[in-house]
Amino acid sequence: PETIGIIGAMDEEVELLLAGMNGSETVEKAGVRYHKGTFHGKNVIVCKSGVGKVNAAVTTQILIDFFGVSKVLFTGVAGAVHPELNIGDIVISSECLQHDMDVTALGFERGVIPYQEVSVFQADKALVALAEKACSTLGEVNFRVGRVLSGDQFIASVEQVSWFYEHLQGACVEMEGAAVAQVCYMNGVPFVVIRSMSDKADGSAHANFAEFTVASSRRSHAILDDMLRQM
Ligand code: ADE
Repeated sequence: PETIGIIGAMDEEVELLLAGMNGSETVEKAGVRYHKGTFHGKNVIVCKSGVGKVNAAVTTQILIDFFGVSKVLFTGVAGAVHPELNIGDIVISSECLQHDMDVTALGFERGVIPYQEVSVFQADKALVALAEKACSTLGEVNFRVGRVLSGDQFIASVEQVSWFYEHLQGACVEMEGAAVAQVCYMNGVPFVVIRSMSDKADGSAHANFAEFTVASSRRSHAILDDMLRQM
């Protein structure tokens, strides 16, 4: 039977998963604790990657190589980029892009990884559909399937948000999704990123992030919970 890897970046995001799962054995690798167990009868490995693309990339590769996961799900919070998204709303990744990949000085477009074919990493269609179904099942969830932008920056500026929306067609911005996505792509492993908006990545982002991260993490987790039940 398959094993599903589930990643969150922060304690708030992972605590709920650990509380809901049966298990477990914990294995530590490269400073990250991997919790083995079952969740709605499925074999899962739950872990907290830590913040940022490097943490997310290393964690994802270990999930694939060492734990043999055949799918990766990411749950957490993000800053809203699409103007119709509000705090608490959900973004399901259609695809992911690294907004801080910038080789424009050599003539490459912003976000383009030089000398490789793919810079926008597509989420698995079946997992996206499952996430959409979970949002509908839960009801009263405003959700959008869209592009997740990732970079090693906490975004707190309206100018950056409008640029991300207009030039990079982002739905939301966070710090891990595209790293998970690229590693999954490199290994041929399907993934999806589920993010609940904790802020609007504007001048109020730091205050909103502090206030809404717990509630938003809970919403993202609720979607994931329903997805695992349906899998
Ligand atoms: N995660 C949650 N809010 C964020 C923001 N504004 N920028 C980057 N990552 C985030």
